[in-house]
Amino acid sequence: MGKILIFGGTFDPPHKGHRHLLRTALQQEQFDRVLIIPSYIPPHKDHKPALSFEVRKEVIRDFFGEIPGMEILDLEQKRGGRSYTIDTVKTLREENPEDTLYLLIGSDMFLSFHQWYCADQLLRQLILVVGSREPGDRTLLEACKKRLEQAYPCKGIILCDMEPVVCASSDLRAVGNGLAERALAHIGQELDLKRARHTMQVADYARELAPKVGVDAEKAYLAGLLHDCTKCYSNDWQIRFAREKGISLTADDLSSPQILHQITAPAFARDALGVEDEEILAAIGCHTTGKPEMAPLDMLIFFADSCEPSRTYPGVEEIRKAGERDLKNGTLMLLDHVMASLINRKQFLHPKTVAARNYLLKELENNG
Ligand SMILES: [Fe+2]
Repeated sequence: MGKILIFGGTFDPPHKGHRHLLRTALQQEQFDRVLIIPSYIPPHKDHKPALSFEVRKEVIRDFFGEIPGMEILDLEQKRGGRSYTIDTVKTLREENPEDTLYLLIGSDMFLSFHQWYCADQLLRQLILVVGSREPGDRTLLEACKKRLEQAYPCKGIILCDMEPVVCASSDLRAVGNGLAERALAHIGQELDLKRARHTMQVADYARELAPKVGVDAEKAYLAGLLHDCTKCYSNDWQIRFAREKGISLTADDLSSPQILHQITAPAFARDALGVEDEEILAAIGCHTTGKPEMAPLDMLIFFADSCEPSRTYPGVEEIRKAGERDLKNGTLMLLDHVMASLINRKQFLHPKTVAARNYLLKELENNG
């Protein structure tokens, strides 16, 4: 007889609170299988997820990393319609009649558990594992546990001891008065899976580093979500769009087609997605080449784009560590690396990259 932990949710988008909740549960209990089950259409929410099911599923994998026994199941997508936990539990019960089922939920979900569809049946069939999402809510959770145990026959309720991480997908979607939700929808609809995963990693990494370098975390998150917003379109599209918007492309720009998306991204973000913040527009406008006199947000997005956790090129760990200690030093190392690899591959070196590197080199020399 095995122990199966079920962790469901919309994960729109996944965040460090989800990862922390899962890892805490795994420290407290041993499980034979850990089933991550993204909702297809969440029953308790009145809007459809911003990110597509496929993107959410892949990003969860990136966020949670290697966890023994972890599987990401698409059974709620296969079933279609609204995703009720009781239906998922019935399926898993049929498939695993001998095993004990555990359901991991955050304290916010636990406090409203009595309102869940078929809450009584769920409590009879599985053991709830509850992690705290808000500081100081332990007393409230104890009281809720008692109330549920008095009201229903319960198989078991485990309250995990954990340091709460205050983070919610709804807060992330609300960043920039809902601009993040619009950016996420664009990512889900337009970017291919690989680009979408990379974008989510850049946004999360930039948000995490932001406070260390004096940048507003929400701005960093939004700039990260937007930085590759036009990378999904062809070179012909980039040139046509630039012409339509009256943006002049230099001979150097046209010699580096891989950087054209940084030129079109600010106009697209402003006109198609409604972004007005000039600092964000400036940062996404130099994220591939860099430029002299980069503002902290420019540098952060430039650095995060090449050093987000899923990047694996030789030397990235050293650059990542240097940048996490000191963003300017790390960015200089990165610029050196970018230039060296372009030269090695006999590719065109955009003058903005050279200028960015020389400017930063001088600045760091002058600062001793
Ligand atoms: Fe990127």
